[in-house]
Amino acid sequence: MSEDVFKKIVSHCKEYGFVFQSSEIYDGLSAVYDYGQMGVELKNNIKKYWWDSMVLLNENVVGIDSAIFMHPTIWKASGHVDAFNDPLIDNKDSKKRYRADVLIEDYLAKIDDKINKEVEKAAKRFGESFDEAMYRQTNPRVLENQAKRDEVHARFAKALNDSNLEELRQIIVDCEIVDPISGTRNWTEVRQFNLMFSTEMGSTADGAMKVYLRPETAQGIFVNFLNVQKTGRMKIPFGIAQIGKAFRNEIVARQFIFRMREFEQMEMQFFVRPGEELEWFAKWKEVRMKWHKALGFGDHKYRFHDHDKLAHYANAATDVEFEMPFGFKEVEGIHSRTDFDLSSHEKYSGKKLQYFDPELNKSYTPYVIETSIGVDRMFLSIVSASYAEEVLEDGETRVVLRLPAALAPIKLGVLPLVKKDGLPEKAREIIDALKFDFKCQYDEKDSIGKRYRRQDAIGTPYCVTVDHQSLEDNTVTIRYRDTMEQERVAIDKLSDIISDKVSMKNLLKTIG
Ligand code: GAP
Repeated sequence: MSEDVFKKIVSHCKEYGFVFQSSEIYDGLSAVYDYGQMGVELKNNIKKYWWDSMVLLNENVVGIDSAIFMHPTIWKASGHVDAFNDPLIDNKDSKKRYRADVLIEDYLAKIDDKINKEVEKAAKRFGESFDEAMYRQTNPRVLENQAKRDEVHARFAKALNDSNLEELRQIIVDCEIVDPISGTRNWTEVRQFNLMFSTEMGSTADGAMKVYLRPETAQGIFVNFLNVQKTGRMKIPFGIAQIGKAFRNEIVARQFIFRMREFEQMEMQFFVRPGEELEWFAKWKEVRMKWHKALGFGDHKYRFHDHDKLAHYANAATDVEFEMPFGFKEVEGIHSRTDFDLSSHEKYSGKKLQYFDPELNKSYTPYVIETSIGVDRMFLSIVSASYAEEVLEDGETRVVLRLPAALAPIKLGVLPLVKKDGLPEKAREIIDALKFDFKCQYDEKDSIGKRYRRQDAIGTPYCVTVDHQSLEDNTVTIRYRDTMEQERVAIDKLSDIISDKVSMKNLLKTIG
């Protein structure tokens, strides 16, 4: 999928009430977005799918909802005050600021693209007899590019691990990376920039207290670990899940809702015995990948990407990447966070955060596996994968969002054929009977064809048309979004037909 298609997806999101630029009438606020009437429904359904998969399907996972403001020492203990930085570089000509690591990652992605194009070309040339593995191992141009990529990648990984800012700059210089705007290589030094937003709370004689807007929801879970464990009588292994807003002063804010300054996370911390963390890490990797793939967009759209640089708290980490219109990108992180956070909070707070394990008859600080996914990135991945433009048999085109039915904002469009003869009343009767189970939308404006298109564009899996025959025999025409097939069904069968496909329960059953 190309950047052009991505642009279309962004406009589609606006045109149909999914996502608006924040503060638009004041010319917008960069990297902050509002969800509209359709977007909020889709977002809520994504959150429900995640939440239920965590707290319904796992007896030993419970949820919390902690505050955004927390004691500032929490961020000292978590390492965010000292280490939650991005390496920045400025171009002296365009005066634009970039993340040095992103410039290098983009450079590496370009080499990957080159290699893949070379392979694709050869595949076309050789047809069925093409042996891709052999070609990759022997073609001189592929080998040359691969060697270049491996060398830069190794330097890059080492520079990140050593937090070596000079070396990051040197890689940019050596790879002759240019500013995409000015086209020049006139770069400044690389500097660290802390991503947390801060504000002031209260007012005292000594001045107000500096507090931070949380950059992740996870710390709210850590500091409540003992509260939940004791009041819920939880036994290790157990998990605590939370959905909530997080804030980061992202420097390179781009790609729509992919990188935002205010966003939402769905995080789960799973507390385990020390020494068992890598087994649980493997287990949660599998569980989370299954959750993603159950949406039915195709397994080839997902891959794991193991981290080159482990965060200060991790002993293993991987990303679930999804093929966005602009390439494979992280939607979820799965991290083995050791006992870093709990131990650190113990140290800074002076309060014991240990668990007494009755089976081992001893106390210890649990280790933690974290699964952390961004709601907004998940939203973007779903909309991108669902968006399709189709040329129909009559030569017309339709734009359809093939959203998984359980996530669709509207489940049923109810359309009276004409605005008279008692058809609107009959349509309202149908909605009144079904509205307790599904979100329905009534639409009587324009031709039936136009109304179908509008429902296709927001991803409604079913539409029913109420006509004169409906008044006589209580049947309607049901039309399926994906196949556009239509059939006549009894009104009292609608609930069964629709619930089978749109039910969250059935989706959860595929993974539970
Ligand atoms: N507690 C661990 C943590 O926060 P992370 O990899 O920094 O890990 C987890 O973030 C997820 O949150 C990411 O995979 C992504 O989906 C989402 N996320 C992070 N920064 C984001 C941003 N600026 N805009 C939108 N989503 C973001």
